[in-house]
Amino acid sequence: GKVLYNQQFVERSKLIDIEDRGYQFGDGIYEVIGVYDGAFFLLDEHLQRLKRSAKEIQLSLPYELTELKEKLVELVSLNELTDGVVYLQITRGEAERWHHFPRESVTPILIAYTKIEETLDEASKNGASAVLTEDIRWLRCDIKTLNLLPNVIAKQKAVENNAVEAILHRGDVITEASASNVFMVKDGKVFTHPANNYILNGITRQKVLELCDKLQITVQEEAFTIHDLLAADELFITATKLDIVPIIQVDNQPIGSEIPGETTKKIIQAFHSSLQ
Ligand code: PDD
Repeated sequence: GKVLYNQQFVERSKLIDIEDRGYQFGDGIYEVIGVYDGAFFLLDEHLQRLKRSAKEIQLSLPYELTELKEKLVELVSLNELTDGVVYLQITRGEAERWHHFPRESVTPILIAYTKIEETLDEASKNGASAVLTEDIRWLRCDIKTLNLLPNVIAKQKAVENNAVEAILHRGDVITEASASNVFMVKDGKVFTHPANNYILNGITRQKVLELCDKLQITVQEEAFTIHDLLAADELFITATKLDIVPIIQVDNQPIGSEIPGETTKKIIQAFHSSLQ
């Protein structure tokens, strides 16, 4: 398929220079945006977060969001994507390798491409397992940057244990997971870590909070511990295209009755309706 490279649609081959700052330093930001039945889901929300990430790392966006939005819609139709994601990243650009920002004005490099991805129907219906691992990331996890090595290592641990996710904890406190947000249900209330510098404020997370409000489910954006998590009635994770997956086992220990819980199922149902 075609790749959006700054303002143009080009073939995917040899686009990246060895001195691209994203390649050398992870000096850039990204978004993964869901596409369902040929249409974007929550595109504006993703673009607003992209804008925020850019600001936080002092990167100026190479073009206006309205123009970018049009290009992304065009990319999806050019590539005839029906179900999958658009991956979009912007790096600080190509410059001689020095750690500091390039002194002369270097144009940031934006790349977007489409990727076919199925939703995890089986896991979403029957639940899945997760492992726990220490959150060794930096203190600005609210920025969606390209620096994902700690997330990569955490996810690898999950895969090696036949789990879908690695749930991260800083000391005793559960933050989020390697590539998703974590929610716990206890006595009918939903708990999730507050959206501060320790987590990425997921677009799916925000949607779930909105749905809980509509469903009149009480939500407390409050940190909880490993102990609380293992004693939860229900547990689920959220992310783009993964949507909502119930977690029924953590480190081989059962969560609740080891089946997707009623509150989780209600939220999943409301989420599916919102996709229509
Ligand atoms: N990851 N937390 C982390 C660390 C993430 O990487 C992600 C998403 C989320 C969920 O955010 P959202 O609901 O906006 O997708 C939370 C994407 C999908 C990825 O890196 O592939």
